[in-house]
Amino acid sequence: MATATGLFFLKTSAFSITSKRPSVSLFVNKVHSFRLRAANIEESEIEGEEEVGISEKKKIFVAGATGNTGKRIVEQLLAKGFAVKAGVLDVDKAKSTLPGQNPDLQIVKADVTEGSVRLADAIGNDSDAVICATGFRRSLDFLAPWKVDNFGTVNLVEACRTLGVKRFLLVSSILVNGAAMGQLFNPAYVFLNVLGLTLIAKLQAEQYIRRSGINYTIIRPGGLKNDPPQGNIVMEQEDTLYEGSISRDQVAEVAVEALLHPESHYKVVEIVARTDAPKRSFKELFGSIKQQ
Ligand SMILES: NC(=O)c1ccc[n+]([C@@H]2O[C@H](COP(=O)([O-])OP(=O)(O)OC[C@H]3O[C@@H](n4cnc5c(N)ncnc54)[C@H](OP(=O)(O)O)[C@@H]3O)[C@@H](O)[C@H]2O)c1
Repeated sequence: MATATGLFFLKTSAFSITSKRPSVSLFVNKVHSFRLRAANIEESEIEGEEEVGISEKKKIFVAGATGNTGKRIVEQLLAKGFAVKAGVLDVDKAKSTLPGQNPDLQIVKADVTEGSVRLADAIGNDSDAVICATGFRRSLDFLAPWKVDNFGTVNLVEACRTLGVKRFLLVSSILVNGAAMGQLFNPAYVFLNVLGLTLIAKLQAEQYIRRSGINYTIIRPGGLKNDPPQGNIVMEQEDTLYEGSISRDQVAEVAVEALLHPESHYKVVEIVARTDAPKRSFKELFGSIKQQ
């Protein structure tokens, strides 16, 4: 989805973040268990105990990798020492959008509407986690949000199940459950649902993920901005935030940090940025959210 940015409101002021660029090494066995060592990262996620002595980077598949948020996720993953498989609709566009000449970046065609079998081929048996940052392209197809934001995400989860990929992150949206929150007449809720029931499509996909048994983190940002971060990240329980905005850089940061923090497992987090919010570590932010 291109922009609904103007629909969420929040006062912000100038803010800058420093990014750490630790070296990450992984010791991987063939069945997706790995040990992550990330120097200078506050908390390392460790899944599986077996160390087989093969030093290999953890590889993350990003669906929607040429999108405004997707490309930032790719950049930040590479900066944090991950390898990335970028799933894109248009490989030529990806070659000009994504960082060139990086041996840790692989670009593959992946249309999430084409079904889980094709997606499993694209994800391959070497991806440790999948991040979904897709959003329907505006078109005359009224069903596009349903095809991409609901069925497309379901297809990705099914592909993960087929392949044995155990970790799934979704970039969703605040207000997906707006009706239940008493926000039925919130202009953003109305507008996005008039555009092909977009928020309802996303909510259905979220529910599918939560029932699937996969280890998920569902990230629901407020209105997205391409501007650099202004303010600190506020993270709340599901169905809490109904306004506010956040830089796509910060959304990408939350997605990457979720991979590094077990406190994010099986959680739905809502995020915006606020200038008056205190700066909190990701361990604290994710740790403050209850599993439902
Ligand atoms: N805009 C907002 O204010 C806002 C607020 C909250 C949440 N969100 C949600 O956050 C997510 C990211 O938003 P964004 O604005 O960064 O998205 P975006 O720039 O519109 O990027 C969406 C990506 O999805 C890709 N895509 C579209 N159809 C696809 C398909 N059938 N198969 C595979 N990929 C497909 C697009 O490919 P191309 O690059 O080839 O077009 C693009 O890379 C979306 O789910 C959006 O709904 C947005």
